[in-house]
Amino acid sequence: MTTSSSEQGVSLGMPQLPAPAYPDDVRARLEADGREIIARYPDSRSALLPLLHLVQAEEGHVTRTGQQFCAELLDLTTAEVAAVVTFYTMYRRRPSGDYQVGVCTNTLCAVMGGDAIFEELQEHLGVGNGETTGDGKVTLEHIECNAACDFAPVVMVNWEFFDNQTPASAKRLVDDLRAGADVRPTRGARLCTFKDTARILAGFPDERPGAVEESGGAGPASLVGLRLAKGETAPARVVHPRAGRPQDEPRDGAAHDPSPSEHLSSHDAPQDTSASDPAHPAGPAAEEGE
Ligand code: FES
Repeated sequence: MTTSSSEQGVSLGMPQLPAPAYPDDVRARLEADGREIIARYPDSRSALLPLLHLVQAEEGHVTRTGQQFCAELLDLTTAEVAAVVTFYTMYRRRPSGDYQVGVCTNTLCAVMGGDAIFEELQEHLGVGNGETTGDGKVTLEHIECNAACDFAPVVMVNWEFFDNQTPASAKRLVDDLRAGADVRPTRGARLCTFKDTARILAGFPDERPGAVEESGGAGPASLVGLRLAKGETAPARVVHPRAGRPQDEPRDGAAHDPSPSEHLSSHDAPQDTSASDPAHPAGPAAEEGE
């Protein structure tokens, strides 16, 4: 099953047929959940984003039926709902796999290896951007920066982080996902399917035992600036993972290490600072003639 690139609900210049309704039992269940979401907000239309995650959790993507449902519950037009669905890339508009594998190909990740990872995954999986493997397990996508640049290049699976990846570690990751192995992200809770992830994003509790405790916090590389600001000394050394490290091994805390490494990455903190280089002190630039 390689999905086509045509998107549901789009027909230029042609009147659309009404979206098919949910079966009664599904509608009743979704409506109860939807009312619970709406009650969290002083203004009902503020509930649109979590409601869209709710309908995405039902079908794996946001169908026209789901959009119609959200519009009815929130007293919005379907055009208003569609405008939001088409704006945010976290909402899918066509059927996809259980695991959305997003490779960050924004500038930093791209130059650190993200472009190579994406190209090799395309070849390895036999799919292009936005396409799904024949077993329905993996949808491969370019993703934009997810603010994890200090762990570049980053791969995300259902929005969980896999840091410091290489082409080889990324290929092992997708193989494990397709084989149904127990795959743990570098940081964050263990993986669940895209539908289950969507339900959590709709604001319902993650009921998997231990999942909340596993979520952890920021990785060590992200905390270096905070540590320096608190007066702690800079790291004694900076790791340069590209110097002499075999490229077929995942770097610090990558996919197959369930306990994130305490090692710092090569881009954590500068070694040469104004404190260590008196010839170039920090401070406001001097005016001409001062
Ligand atoms: S550029 Fe990839 S996470 Fe920021």
